[in-house]
Amino acid sequence: MRAWREGRREASESLDSPDSRPLRAADRTLDLDSSTLADIQAAGIDLDPGGPRPDHDPNELHTHPHVRSLPGEPPIIGIVGGGAVGSALAVALTRAGWPIAAIASRDPERRARLSKLVGGTRAFAEANALLDEVELIIVAVPDDAIAPLAGSLRMYSGQAMVHTSGLLGSEVLAPAMAAGTQIGSFHPLVAFADMERAVEALRGATVAVEGDEQLMDLLARMAEAVGAIPVRLAAGTKPAYHAAAVLAAGGFVALLDAIARLASVAGLDEQGALAVYGRLIEQTLGNARAIGIGPALTGPMTRGDTGTVSAHLAELRSREPGVLDLYVAAARRELDLVEERRGLTPEAIAALRDLLAKPP
Ligand SMILES: NC(=O)c1ccc[n+]([C@@H]2O[C@H](COP(=O)([O-])OP(=O)(O)OC[C@H]3O[C@@H](n4cnc5c(N)ncnc54)[C@H](OP(=O)(O)O)[C@@H]3O)[C@@H](O)[C@H]2O)c1
Repeated sequence: MRAWREGRREASESLDSPDSRPLRAADRTLDLDSSTLADIQAAGIDLDPGGPRPDHDPNELHTHPHVRSLPGEPPIIGIVGGGAVGSALAVALTRAGWPIAAIASRDPERRARLSKLVGGTRAFAEANALLDEVELIIVAVPDDAIAPLAGSLRMYSGQAMVHTSGLLGSEVLAPAMAAGTQIGSFHPLVAFADMERAVEALRGATVAVEGDEQLMDLLARMAEAVGAIPVRLAAGTKPAYHAAAVLAAGGFVALLDAIARLASVAGLDEQGALAVYGRLIEQTLGNARAIGIGPALTGPMTRGDTGTVSAHLAELRSREPGVLDLYVAAARRELDLVEERRGLTPEAIAALRDLLAKPP
């Protein structure tokens, strides 16, 4: 499936064309097809209407001679943002044979590091400069920075732009659109804490893709190129999907930290805590996978052990008050599960809820 308009290709060609040739950099063209140019000029369209305008018409044609990939090749990719996701995707895609033609990072050290990591890439301080060099722009900046960044960019006809946010839809990129451009999102369900581990973790991870229909096939192939599994989410579900991801990654780390702090009271260092409680965590996860989340619940909540819970709360308050709220929040959720499976009498559940509402 063709992902965007390509001036040089014949109408019958596509990225999947069986006649596709191997990548040859010299085959890339910096010019629009002359007949395309003539058509545009005959239609009275201004080919270079000036710099980006936040209030531009997204249907207006915005053409510029920029590089184009050949049929069957990966698109010419640029990545904006030299942070955790931008760096790992740059490395993973390069290793997968999807070279990164350009990167934009505001930080000189990150620019140098990324250039060295991926090789053969042009490095820019400004995202706008990168737009002249690529077909597909991957915006890997913090969620709150995506909209302002998109508002400062204006794509050329034939280009596509995706961001990597798990929360936001592709529409946040709309301010960067012109006629003949496409937008999407590409969210890998991976915790990008360490670059090499993240590149490895992309194998078998899911990547949620969403956006303009014509772009979906390309994004799916990009996910598969790095060993991931592309998935499409139902409209309007990204916030919940992402909140779950945040609980599974950051939330779980917060839980691990609480576990390690309590374990330190018992004399275990972090490695010791991870070794000892890690086994219990893995066993619990295994139980949930085998018999379901509800049935995997164990502990004092399932038994209505008010005395045990009371002792825990008192100990936490005196020894590790910082983890008390987390214990109480988790205990309330456990009680919901107990209630759902009718594991305790209403009186026993009420007694535990009272205790959690007014910890000793
Ligand atoms: N971290 C994860 O595990 C993860 C997983 C999946 C998806 N994501 C998503 O991926 C995106 C990037 O996350 P990240 O973890 O890579 O963030 P990050 O490590 O903080 O890196 C983001 C990069 O964006 C650039 N940046 C920061 N503020 C900016 C601004 N105001 N304007 C323009 N550029 C700015 C910076 O790069 P330069 O200084 O180099 O310009 C920064 O290094 C987010 O949408 C996030 O939700 C993250």
